[in-house]
Amino acid sequence: MTPKNKKIVIGNWKMNPENITAAKKLIGDIKKKSLAIKKSTVVIVPPSAFFAAVKGTSSSKKILFGFQNVQAEKTGSLTGEVSAAMAESLGAKYVIIGHSERRGLGETDLEISKKVQAVMKLGMVPVLCIGEKEVDEHGGHLVFLKEQLKKDLVYVDMNEIEKVIIAYEPIYAVGATHAITSHQVHERNILIKKILSEMYNKEKAFKVKVLYGGSVNIENARDIIRGGEVDGLLVGRDSLRPENFIEIIKRIETL
Ligand code: PGA
Repeated sequence: MTPKNKKIVIGNWKMNPENITAAKKLIGDIKKKSLAIKKSTVVIVPPSAFFAAVKGTSSSKKILFGFQNVQAEKTGSLTGEVSAAMAESLGAKYVIIGHSERRGLGETDLEISKKVQAVMKLGMVPVLCIGEKEVDEHGGHLVFLKEQLKKDLVYVDMNEIEKVIIAYEPIYAVGATHAITSHQVHERNILIKKILSEMYNKEKAFKVKVLYGGSVNIENARDIIRGGEVDGLLVGRDSLRPENFIEIIKRIETL
């Protein structure tokens, strides 16, 4: 088991930067500052087109690499897609699955559940993104999260659940101006553990790592980790700014 104070920080580059030269520079700049990483698990998730080059450039043992999406099928007539097996063969250790931007492009819970299964079968860690579109005063968002978790984890059994990472990302906070409050993060974290307790059991539920994502920055990172009691962060924009990304890691390592 990872020690309780070992946090996970995942940098999701999304469809950035604009070319391979810039991607190599970005990973180089992050690597230069990586001495500052003492105890966190840091995962860089570049676009799949840059994966091999970005991973190849970095010999730092402190940085692991992941994919932003994969297909569950091993091979096939799926023009433009990349399989979980291909990602694994390139050295990916983590795969983000069900990011809200992909769900927005039409990805379904059924597809997501199959991707989670395929990724786990290959020994990689699925980072399953869940999150509500809006909060409603009758608690509809809580029901929504429960349904989402149940559908997306349908193929994950009792023996495997603790290997899954859940990234809670309320859609209105992704790419926005503000994260939600650490109090709200804490509430959702508890809710997620409660749902997982019902689906599996309490012991298992508390072993599952829950991350927060959505407008994480230098100013709010510590508070989200401390107040939200989450196991780490999924960072979008600030993972493209090496100084900020490393500073986020440094700040949470002082907790
Ligand atoms: P953001 O993105 O940090 O830019 O809000 C987070 C994400 O999409 O994972």
